[in-house]
Amino acid sequence: MRPWRLESLGLADLDAVVTLEAESFRQPWSRALVASELRLGEAYALGAYAARDPGSPVFVAGYILLRLMVDALHVQRLAVVPAWRRQGLARQLLERALAARPPEAALATLEVRSGNLAALALYRAAGFDVAGRRPRYYPDTGEDALILSKPL
Ligand SMILES: CC(C)(COP(=O)(O)OP(=O)(O)OC[C@H]1O[C@@H](n2cnc3c(N)ncnc32)[C@H](O)[C@@H]1OP(=O)(O)O)[C@@H](O)C(=O)NCCC(=O)NCCS
Repeated sequence: MRPWRLESLGLADLDAVVTLEAESFRQPWSRALVASELRLGEAYALGAYAARDPGSPVFVAGYILLRLMVDALHVQRLAVVPAWRRQGLARQLLERALAARPPEAALATLEVRSGNLAALALYRAAGFDVAGRRPRYYPDTGEDALILSKPL
């Protein structure tokens, strides 16, 4: 896979994240919501920074946003630029973000659409199990939300 490095996402990445949200999610986060998350400035907004070609400017090839809620590290967003998918980037982003977790995090949790087979395969391979289901949670498709968790 092409080289990339992991760094904290900042407000300078707002445009890149908003673009990737629109490319990746049926219900993308608004610019204001992304900005408020990035403004928190915590270590839980991480980007995979890469160059398209050697010598070209670096851009955000993927990102992961997490938030600690008491002892649960919640994966809020994880997305990879379409041209960079199926190369292991999301798996590595997830692994590295969980490895850098704060000590109080006892488990990782997230919600995923029941029809998002790519994400489900990724999370299952990373050791997440289904812990709950919210029937017909997503009004645009009527899909269930699956709640996944993984002890840390
Ligand atoms: C889901 C997503 C983040 C995966 O990113 P990625 O970098 O392509 O994933 P990886 O290459 O690290 O894949 C790791 C494993 O996940 C599974 N996987 C990923 N994409 C898959 C796909 N399209 N179909 C089936 N399995 C897939 C595979 O098991 C894969 O391992 P393998 O390539 O060795 O078979 C990416 O498709 C994406 O951004 N989707 C839109 C946003 C989204 O749905 N985010 C998750 C919301 S909960």
